[in-house]
Amino acid sequence: QGNSARILQLTLAVIKPDAIAHPVIFKAVHEKILLNKFLIVRSKELSWRREDSQNFYREHSGRFFYQRLVEFMSSGPMRAYILAHEDAIQLWRSLMGPTKVYRARNTEPESIRGMYGLTDTRNTTHGSDSLESANREITFFFPEFCVSHWYQQDEPHFR
Ligand code: TYD
Ligand code: MG
Repeated sequence: QGNSARILQLTLAVIKPDAIAHPVIFKAVHEKILLNKFLIVRSKELSWRREDSQNFYREHSGRFFYQRLVEFMSSGPMRAYILAHEDAIQLWRSLMGPTKVYRARNTEPESIRGMYGLTDTRNTTHGSDSLESANREITFFFPEFCVSHWYQQDEPHFR
């Protein structure tokens, strides 16, 4: 293809505790990232305390699933990624598939959640849903990473 300049976008992706608990599923999801030629800008394994979980999902406080979501997301290790790609946010969301596992299985059976989602809560992955949330979530997981600096680099990004 040669050196065609591409406009890269950042998104925050997480492989959730249900998938980290099963190495075969973790590997399959990680390979999906590589296969789709995302650039892995940062990656780390981490565990949340309850307070981190509550803070990250505070927009959902009051929803019927909030307590179980908070509980689950602080139940074990996960792996977070800063991913770069053209339209990274939309691309990763479409690879994940719908939030609700019955919908994922019925309408997007090849998606990550369609294949590996266990329940609406234990649904394998997280992905930012907008530029604003990507910026917030990248900073939440990687406080030392400066999003605006990354976008301000002089050179166009080549892949
Ligand atoms: P949401 O932001 O609606 O979905 P997404 O992860 O696709 O952006 O919800 C955040 C998380 O809350 C979702 O990944 C799992 C949990 N959740 C439930 O446990 N039950 C539900 O009915 C919904 C809608 C979400
Ligand atoms: Mg969401």
